[in-house]
Amino acid sequence: MAALTWSDALALQQPRMDTTHQEFVALLGTLEAALDGPVAPIDSAMEDLLAHTEAHFAQEERWMQALGFASGNCHAFQHAHVLQVLREVASLWRNEGDLAVVRQLAGELVKWFPVHARTMDAALAQTMAERGFDPDTGRLAQPVAPGTAPVTGCGSAGCG
Ligand SMILES: [Fe+2]
Ligand SMILES: [Fe+2]
Repeated sequence: MAALTWSDALALQQPRMDTTHQEFVALLGTLEAALDGPVAPIDSAMEDLLAHTEAHFAQEERWMQALGFASGNCHAFQHAHVLQVLREVASLWRNEGDLAVVRQLAGELVKWFPVHARTMDAALAQTMAERGFDPDTGRLAQPVAPGTAPVTGCGSAGCG
């Protein structure tokens, strides 16, 4: 059984974000299952998780940009760090078949994701709700006023 499964405790009441997060949890579970099974499926599980995470983070960063967050804010910075690790591990798996590092990555992501969701993603979801941001259209009920300085933090307890 996957070490991390979706539950209402992970839901942030932002449907697009919650759907993406459910997909992330499922793909991480697929990678964990692949680690316990034959070697072949790890290739696709690793690549699927990497591709999905690139899109997942890019989506949140587009939303942050629309809401007036600075591009280098701590939430985006943490995404960049996690993506770098994911890419390095995918490369180590592809080139060297390093199973131990893939296993370590999966374990770290299981611990990292709930904290990230509860802090940085929750702060983003709250800002989206407060500002009336529609992720499907990109429209803001309360647009950022021209000349407003970018928001440098992410607004969460994990900000620092
Ligand atoms: Fe997220
Ligand atoms: Fe995030």
